[in-house]
Amino acid sequence: MAESTDSSNVPRHIAFIMDGNGRWAKARGLPRLKGHEAGAETVRLVIRCCRDWGVRYLTLYAFSTENWRRPALEVNGLMRLLQKFLQENEGGLHEHGVRLRVIGRRGDLPGSVRREVERVEAATVNYDSGELILALSYGGRVEIAEAARRIAEKVAKGELKPGAVNEKVVTDHLYAPDVPDPDLVVRTSGEFRTSNFLPWQSVYSEWLITPVLWPDFSESDFQAVIEAYTRRNRRFGGVESGVTKESNG
Ligand code: FPP
Repeated sequence: MAESTDSSNVPRHIAFIMDGNGRWAKARGLPRLKGHEAGAETVRLVIRCCRDWGVRYLTLYAFSTENWRRPALEVNGLMRLLQKFLQENEGGLHEHGVRLRVIGRRGDLPGSVRREVERVEAATVNYDSGELILALSYGGRVEIAEAARRIAEKVAKGELKPGAVNEKVVTDHLYAPDVPDPDLVVRTSGEFRTSNFLPWQSVYSEWLITPVLWPDFSESDFQAVIEAYTRRNRRFGGVESGVTKESNG
């Protein structure tokens, strides 16, 4: 860890929008899938960086509800890549006590991918050194709509009073209610969009856009991101800590 970085300020939860695989491949005259393969190597690197820096929760936007619109060749290749990634990296999760979770419409996934994901989730469910959260067939609006539907069902059955529905109740019906909100959301490849990623959970997150394409994202980029985060002053709608209401005028 860099000496200048205060470890108490390292984010507890980082979420990444891993963008730029296609452009990385195109720039090299390669098929898009080669970009995703290179991106999977960056995933391994970032998991290691989180361990080294003491970041406990890592969420990765690996496949959105909108990504099903891509050509079948790319979608199938991404699904195969995911399965391979899980098979090749499960050992590391066990070795380091990392729990795997998936958020998203898991029922949309091909049966073999879903079975593999759920097998690894079950095998790592008791680990508590860190959490790797893969957003798969994930869409933030769908997540909120599904939560609303389940809440409405409980209200209809008389299990919940309409007046009791508050922010906590909504959070409790999201995919991973016990995971703290991301402190930091990073998007690679220079795009300034949130793309339906964690809209409920990221309202107070720090956002950071880097021009680096995901397959090129390196350990020093990770360090730069952490250092930029530690320099930011999170106020959650309040005032700077140590500044009283009176002194703030
Ligand atoms: C966006 O880049 C990236 C994706 C839609 C897929 C991300 C998948 C990986 C990084 C690899 C597999 C993941 C795991 C967890 C093993 P893009 O294709 O939209 O890039 P472009 O905007 O340059 O076209």
